[in-house]
Amino acid sequence: MTQLFLGIESSCDDTGAAVVSDAGQILSNVVVGQDDMHAAFGGVVPEIAARAHTEKLDVAVETALARAGVSLSDISAIAVTAGPGLIGGVVSGVTFARGLAAGRALPLMGINHLAGHALTPRLVDPSIAFPFLLLLVSGGHCQLLVVQAPNRFHRLGTTIDDAPGEAFDKTARLLGLPQPGGPAVEQSARDGDVLRFRFPRPLLDRPGCDMSFSGLKTALRRERDKIVTDKGGLTKTDRSDLCAGFQAAVTDVLVEKTRRALEMTAQDHGASTALAVAGGVAANRQIRAGLEDLAKSGACRFVAPPLSLCTDNAAMIAWAGIEQAAIGDKGPQPIIAKPRWPLDTQTPSVLGSGKKGAKV
Ligand code: KG4
Ligand code: ZN
Repeated sequence: MTQLFLGIESSCDDTGAAVVSDAGQILSNVVVGQDDMHAAFGGVVPEIAARAHTEKLDVAVETALARAGVSLSDISAIAVTAGPGLIGGVVSGVTFARGLAAGRALPLMGINHLAGHALTPRLVDPSIAFPFLLLLVSGGHCQLLVVQAPNRFHRLGTTIDDAPGEAFDKTARLLGLPQPGGPAVEQSARDGDVLRFRFPRPLLDRPGCDMSFSGLKTALRRERDKIVTDKGGLTKTDRSDLCAGFQAAVTDVLVEKTRRALEMTAQDHGASTALAVAGGVAANRQIRAGLEDLAKSGACRFVAPPLSLCTDNAAMIAWAGIEQAAIGDKGPQPIIAKPRWPLDTQTPSVLGSGKKGAKV
């Protein structure tokens, strides 16, 4: 008989609830954003986010059940994000889910938010077999992960400072472009001369798959300041050229580090592993195209889930619960909300990576 999982997500600034079947059918996927509440502060304010989750969780769940055309009595289990993330939001979600599960005597699973992102490619395309390589690139995270099983991950590389989305957002701020910066920088770069500024490609001269993006932003600021000093301000062309140079540098770093990770994965697991990408930065056309070309040249499949499943959502949490339950893993008991929760506990953590512990 078909089993339905209710997923709940509240680790950053999106309140999510979703109903997903064990066959991978998404019956509903509700995301209530909070962008307007944080806009005036230039970033997510944890206290505001936590309060908003507490206010929105019941409505999100009710809406998800209604859209799926089911009631709580049709649900087999609840899967809730138990970390990593902003602790106030995670606690809100876990507490709410605990009450809901206890009231109906439903099994409750605590899911790692990153596992949700990492398993999404299989929700989109069930024929993707383990192991596959995932590049997770968002506003708070940057990881190259070999997804070996629903509960087994090996991290090949990560950022040692900023995440790429964060770098896009900071670049937009430096150039007076709107937030979120990624789409604005991409749009501006479209008319730019990519050869005018040659920004550094940090850590490409070093072996391995770790990345760095904060130096790139500093180099961009230097060029911006030079133009402002010389000409008194930035023209639209200056902005476009700076954006084009910046985007090219980020793309080069991501593609080259992913190439190395693919090579390492192929050595360990055979050449047929698929390459998947997830996270908000995966929306960037140039980055996507670079990765797609890379996959083609290595004769491996390329999977990019639709954006609604790349960014934070509860369908991925429900799906991770389904995948883990299917192999008999009920997750950590008791469920404790955690601000930090690395997927790969064997690989030593890298200084600065995931420091925000928030938007992943
Ligand atoms: O995954 P996401 O929605 O939220 C988390 O970070 O969890 O990712 C948001 C990030 C933002 O930093 C945003 O600027 C970036 O993804 N982003 C992009 C693009 N669209 C969104 N970055 C580059 N190019 C884009 N088109
Ligand atoms: Zn995330």
